[in-house]
Amino acid sequence: MMSNFQRRIAADELRLGILKHLASLDMAFDQDIDGQRVVESLRSKSVWLDCDTGHDDALAILIAARSPDLRLLGISTVYGNAPLEKTTYNTRAVLQAIGRTDVPVYPGASGPLEREACFAPGIHGETGLDGTTCLPKPTVEAKTDMSAIDAMYRALSAQPAGTAWLVAVGTLTNVAKLFDKYPDLAEHISGLSVMGGCIGEGFTDAPLGTIQAGDGAQDRCGNWTPFAEFNIYCDPEAAQQIFSNPTLSRKATLIPLDLTHQFLATNRVQLGLLFGFDMQMHTEPTMNDVSAVRRLFFEILTFFAKTYAEMFGLTAGPPTHDPLAVAVALRPELFYCNGRGSADGLQNERFTIDIITEGEHGPAVENGRTASQCGRTVANGLVAGTDGVRIPRGLDSKALWALLEGCLSRTERSMGEDAMFERRDTGGALPSQHAVDTGSEDMASLVHGSNVTLSQFEMSTGLLPDIAAIDKEPGYGGHFLETNKEKQLGITPRNLNLTRAQQSRADEDEDEGKRTKRSRGL
Ligand code: BDR
Ligand code: CA
Repeated sequence: MMSNFQRRIAADELRLGILKHLASLDMAFDQDIDGQRVVESLRSKSVWLDCDTGHDDALAILIAARSPDLRLLGISTVYGNAPLEKTTYNTRAVLQAIGRTDVPVYPGASGPLEREACFAPGIHGETGLDGTTCLPKPTVEAKTDMSAIDAMYRALSAQPAGTAWLVAVGTLTNVAKLFDKYPDLAEHISGLSVMGGCIGEGFTDAPLGTIQAGDGAQDRCGNWTPFAEFNIYCDPEAAQQIFSNPTLSRKATLIPLDLTHQFLATNRVQLGLLFGFDMQMHTEPTMNDVSAVRRLFFEILTFFAKTYAEMFGLTAGPPTHDPLAVAVALRPELFYCNGRGSADGLQNERFTIDIITEGEHGPAVENGRTASQCGRTVANGLVAGTDGVRIPRGLDSKALWALLEGCLSRTERSMGEDAMFERRDTGGALPSQHAVDTGSEDMASLVHGSNVTLSQFEMSTGLLPDIAAIDKEPGYGGHFLETNKEKQLGITPRNLNLTRAQQSRADEDEDEGKRTKRSRGL
């Protein structure tokens, strides 16, 4: 006679066997299948990512390719942060670094629908992904058996209706062409998530940086012109086509700068991704303990931190835009509009989006030297119950950074020794443009000294945590380095470099009532 316990085990084994059989039919599963993973995978959402791989796009790829709940169907590339050839190379290299060379990469548009292409070397460097020494050479070519538009259509339309997501984190040219050629696809997909635009006018209280105007610095809303965000600015006609499509509008979620500037890769976040957020001080790891894949993302963020500090005066850490557009498809409950944590937060508010397409456009008016409003995103709130675009106003930074860190751990586990790939250069020297005035230079160069211990690293970089401030830090309120190390070493904690707006937001976070009030009303 079987005991209850034996019966339960037998039933579990049978269920697991069935799940494994189903999983074996799905080529997208990882090799390290176990019961848990199979169950997760069966629940997974499928996603196509369209990107112009620069620094934050790399993190979007990481989360799309290494989240157990997502099946990444493929990636299309677009010009933007750099010319198409470079963004395609960077995409293939990042996939190589994280062990997902099985994901097909299709090169898409090399320029906008009607205008001259813009690039962003000031933010992302000439390669589009400058400042890294750990990026491997890609071994798998980009696909050319069909166009990117046809590949997107085939992959998305092959999913059951209402299940697949399209996530766009670059200029919107590919996406506009896709729905122009295949209008029925809009009805078929589950959602469209777009990183782009900026709303301004107090939509959130995130600091958006300043712009030099006359004798002083003035607040700005856009990051490419005072009014326009880069992805939308590059191809405003493409963006307008998408947001004026009623079917797409009601399925679209917009992740504007007003939201992404709340998700800062502070120094502490950078270290957390390097060593793991839950690392305890007594473990005293050396840089030898850090895998190349972690170093890669650490260098990506330190370079991004440098350019954001230089260009926008944002010294608390770079806003990490693109992974949020993937995360909102994967974990919508980590985003909210009217009050933190409300399960239906994103369902409360809907907007129409109009893109201004008139006015001067092009290299002469870029980087703030213009009064032109071309590329501006105009959001108007809709009456409750009307379909329209979702625009989150807040997010759970801590959970989102933990999600990204989890993707790094998963990458390491899945790649094993391969996660320790060789650095691209041999000397470990950083490119000269990597000089940083926010501590990142020391951080990055120390990472290259493999026998440096964490304490030495912290002492040299002044990164000892101010324990009292940890929970107030807007980018990551976690418990990284929990012990009172600065007392132990007798070193004063470093100034966290928070802007006044960030500090006041951090203070308000203690008060749920105030937060709710702050996030209401356009
Ligand atoms: C957007 O512009 C690009 O530089 C980034 O990758 C991001 O997609 C932010 O404005
Ligand atoms: Ca991008």
